[in-house]
Amino acid sequence: MDIVVIGSLSTDFIVQADRMPEKGETILGESFETAFGGKGANQAVAASRLGASTAFIGAVGDDVFGQHLVSNLEDNNIFCDNVETFTGVASGTAHINIYDNDNSITVIPGTNGLLTPEIIEQHLDMIGSAKYVLLQNEIPVETIHFVIDYCFKQGIKVIYNPAPFIEMDTELLEKCYLLTPNEIECTRLFGESPTSIVKKYPNKLVVTMGEAGCLYHDGTKEVMVPSFNTVPVDTTGAGDTFNGALAAFLSKGETLGTAIRYANLAASIAIQKMGAQTGMPTLKELKEVSENV
Ligand code: RIB
Ligand code: NA
Repeated sequence: MDIVVIGSLSTDFIVQADRMPEKGETILGESFETAFGGKGANQAVAASRLGASTAFIGAVGDDVFGQHLVSNLEDNNIFCDNVETFTGVASGTAHINIYDNDNSITVIPGTNGLLTPEIIEQHLDMIGSAKYVLLQNEIPVETIHFVIDYCFKQGIKVIYNPAPFIEMDTELLEKCYLLTPNEIECTRLFGESPTSIVKKYPNKLVVTMGEAGCLYHDGTKEVMVPSFNTVPVDTTGAGDTFNGALAAFLSKGETLGTAIRYANLAASIAIQKMGAQTGMPTLKELKEVSENV
C-alpha cells in the first residue's frame, strides 16, 4: 500500500446559518445536510482520489451510518478489510456549524473511540505494508502513542496530523517522519511560533497557515508555499485534503516542496464544494487545474 490511514470515520451533520446562536438563544438557519467525514476517512479519500493505493484501519458501529461510512470508502477505492465493526455502539459523528465563511465543530467519537492499541495489534501486517502511515487525533491517545512508537521501531514513515489539538510529548513527535499541524496546533504543541520552530525541524515540520499558505524549512532556508486564492464555499476538511494529497504525492516520489504545492492546490479545489469530501479532486482534475494556474 502507498498509504495506510489509521483514523476516524464520521458522519458529518452540517448546519448552515448566517451566524452562531448566542448561549441560550434559538435562531433560524438556512440548510441542513449530512456528508461523509472524520479526519481519517477524509484524508484517505483525498489520497485515494489522487491515485495512491490506500487502506484504512478504523472502527464503525453496526448502525446504518457505519455501513454507509465503509461503503463510501470502498466507492473511493479504499481497501476496507481492516475496518472493524462493533455491535451496540454508535458510529462517529461530527456536528458542524457553518457561518460567516468559517465553521465550528463538535465531534462525538462513538466507535472511533474504540480503536485501541489491542485492535491495532491485529492489523500489524497491513501497517507493515505501508510506504506511509497517515495518522490524526480523532482516535484514542494511547493508540496514537502505540502507532508512532511501533512504526518508529519498524522504520515505517508516519505522517502525523495532530488535529484536533491534544498534548503530545516532543519526544514522540520527533519519532514521526512528518508533522503537519496548523498554526494554532503548532504553537500549542511546541510553545513556540511556527517561524521560530520550523528551523529546528527541517523537512519534518510542515505548518499549514490557511490562506497564507504553508511553512516549512528545507534544510537551507525557510520556505512559505503560498496557497491558491479562491473564495471558499466550505472549508471543512481543507486540512484533510492537504494531508491526504501530501501523502499521495510523497508516495509517488515527489519532493516535499512539490508535494506541498500540489496539496495546497488540492485543498483550494476541495473547499469549493459543501462537505469535506465532495470537492476533493481526482488526479486528472488536479492536473487540469494545475495547468491553468
Ligand atoms: O477535518 C474535518 C473533519 O473533522 C470533519 O469531516 C468532521 O468529521 C470533523 O471530525
Ligand atoms: Na468541501
